[in-house]
Amino acid sequence: MTRTLLFAAAGERAESWTKAFAEVAPEIDFRPHQPGEDVSDIPYCLVWRAAPGLWSAMKNVKIIFGLGAGVERLLADPSLPRDVPLVRMVEPALTRGMVEYVLWQSLFHHRKVWELEAAQGCATWRPHTYPAPWDRTIGILGLASWASRPRKSWSSSASRCGAGAARPSRCEGRKLFGQDQLPAFLAKTEILVCLLPLTSETRGILNASLFAQLPRGASVINAGRGGHLVEADLTAAMASGQVGAATLDVFETEPLPDDHPFWSTERLYITPHNASVTDPRSAAWRISRQIARYEAGEKLENVVDRARGY
Ligand code: GLV
Repeated sequence: MTRTLLFAAAGERAESWTKAFAEVAPEIDFRPHQPGEDVSDIPYCLVWRAAPGLWSAMKNVKIIFGLGAGVERLLADPSLPRDVPLVRMVEPALTRGMVEYVLWQSLFHHRKVWELEAAQGCATWRPHTYPAPWDRTIGILGLASWASRPRKSWSSSASRCGAGAARPSRCEGRKLFGQDQLPAFLAKTEILVCLLPLTSETRGILNASLFAQLPRGASVINAGRGGHLVEADLTAAMASGQVGAATLDVFETEPLPDDHPFWSTERLYITPHNASVTDPRSAAWRISRQIARYEAGEKLENVVDRARGY
């Protein structure tokens, strides 16, 4: 079988990917998709958003590699081949970037940097206090395989950091709350970080009822998907002071429209869906290892469970 990988992710830095595959995985014939070309014999595909007609044209596709960690858009496509393994992107640079983002934003909210900015804005030397990290409770909603890493870096004694998970048994060694313990988890959480996959169960989870269960003035950080958040509920919770501050990396509509009220909401910080970005070099290496595993008859890693949705 030829080792051709179709790159079906227009607008996603095709030159960097071509260069990365040439350097790291030269055994793979990396082929950016040209409209109209015959792709019926190509066995592997790396895709972000599938163009209409892609899957019916890829008649012999054997593995579909998602370019990102989230695969909800691919799964929502009814033409996605049902019996072909869909592999989520898990690669060290993407993970490192997410760990860095969660730590950065957790510290930003922990220190309430906006209070310093406000004082500086009026040239005022104002005492600024904050709790020790071990007296701050961060709750991570969702259990990415790496979710314990910000916790470890936060502080060796930040034992109050929890995680909400659907499958608690997989996570020994950290303070973990199962789905049925969500109220207890939220009641303790001063900085809530959402890293959930977007599924029918998690859509709209960041809503008025959830915000009401957080301690008053809590912070909310969403680096999952825009669909997790009910935007109007966040606006209302911030207006009432129930949510004190927020950072959002992901939005229902991206790019965030120019006239969106979030742009001018006080203490709401926006990053443009770049909490972390897949690195072509480490991703190329991971994909080449996965193809080698497949060709050797071994089990693929990080295959999406279609029923679960991630
Ligand atoms: C980015 O949003 C990703 O899914 O990796």
